[in-house]
Order: sequence, then C-alpha cells, then structure tokens
Amino acid sequence: MPPLIAPSLLSADFLNLGKDIDMINRSEADWFHLDIMDGVFVPNISFGFPLIEKIAEKAQKPLDVHLMIIDPDRYIHRFREYGAAIISVHYETCPHLHRTIDEIKKSGAKAGVALNPHSPVSLLTHIIKDVDLVLIMSVNPGFGGQKFIEESYAKLQELCELREKKNARPLVQVDGGVDLSNASKLIGSGANALVSGNAIFHSSDPAETIRRMKNL
Ligand code: DX5
Ligand code: ZN
Repeated sequence: MPPLIAPSLLSADFLNLGKDIDMINRSEADWFHLDIMDGVFVPNISFGFPLIEKIAEKAQKPLDVHLMIIDPDRYIHRFREYGAAIISVHYETCPHLHRTIDEIKKSGAKAGVALNPHSPVSLLTHIIKDVDLVLIMSVNPGFGGQKFIEESYAKLQELCELREKKNARPLVQVDGGVDLSNASKLIGSGANALVSGNAIFHSSDPAETIRRMKNL
C-alpha cells in the first residue's frame, strides 16, 4: 500500500496560499496537514481559525489537524466545525487523554495522538486501541525545516510491535524532516502516513515531489 501523503502547509507560501492549495488539490497528496501552534506548548505561533476557514473552503482533500496547543479540549469542536477530518493532540498536553480522544470522536473527526521525540511509545500501551492514528514526531515540534531525528526509526518499530501485541490498527504517521531520502526507510519501518513540509514546498516541483514520495 502506498503511504498517505500529507503536505504541511506551514511551509507553503502564505502570500500565495491559494496557489499552493490548488497544487495539493491537483497532486497525488491525500491530506492537508495543518500545524496549529500556540506559542506555549511550542516556541512558535502558526495560524488559527480565520485562515483555517479559508483553507477549508478551497481544500478538496481531508484536513489533518495537528494541535500543538495546551488544553486542546477547549477547541476540538471548533476545529471540527471548521472542517477538520482528523484531529491529533499531543500526549504531553493531555492529562486525561481518554476523555480527549472520546471528545474528538464524538465531534465526528478521526482521533490521533502525537508523541514528542523524547516520549516513549510505551506511553500508548493503554490507549492505542482507542486511537485512529499515532503521530510520531521526528523533530521537536514548533518549526518546519528541522533535521530528522534518526531514533525515530526505532520508535516506529516499537510502535508496530505494540500494535501487534494489542491487536490495534491505528495509522502510523511520521512528521518532521521527512523527505525523499528517508521516506522509503520510514515506510519500511512501519509508517503509512508521511507529513512533509520543506521537502515538498521548497522543491523545484512540489507536485512531482509528492508524486515521488507517494510512489517510492
Ligand atoms: C513541526 C510540524 C511539522 C512540520 C513539518 O512542528 O509538526 O508538520 O511543519 O515540516 P518539515 O517537513 O519541514 O519538517
Ligand atoms: Zn505537524
């Protein structure tokens, strides 16, 4: 099965966002990855509802929303109203993760949980069966264009073992520093959804980069 490709709009050209959205609509990409940062959980602020609303109007593919915000429960239903198909929260921001995952599902979105690079896969032992997607961060969240952390391969393998052991079937997404040089090894290590920002939008032909990533 080819991987699902989710270009991260964080690396798009915000002055020509409509053009980049059209490119993704026409490309072989599967989802739009939207990185929401609050300047508290991560040392950066990205964009919020007014822009998401506009993206949703133009996007013809599901919106995959990655929440890097504290207390995400406050905003789940609003993200859903604004068109999120998948909502991922960080394990590190959710003291009552089962409740948060339930709320996401109640909203009608698919529920994902993200792990920072230092957070072990074993933290998911008692929740993996309840989530639709696990997002392995392969950089410390906050910025596009960072260097891929090699330890992420080992985490992917551990995650696959946990999935087997628990007989769970969440999608396995990798986010951070993903490009054409590491994508096939990531797929070989168990990833089936790839987020990529810089490698797509800063390439000379973004649609072709997406096509190549999809067809490795
Ligand atoms: C980082 C974000 C990523 C990032 C990916 O906090 O979650 O989605 O924008 O961008 P690249 O592929 O450039 O690392
Ligand atoms: Zn992301």
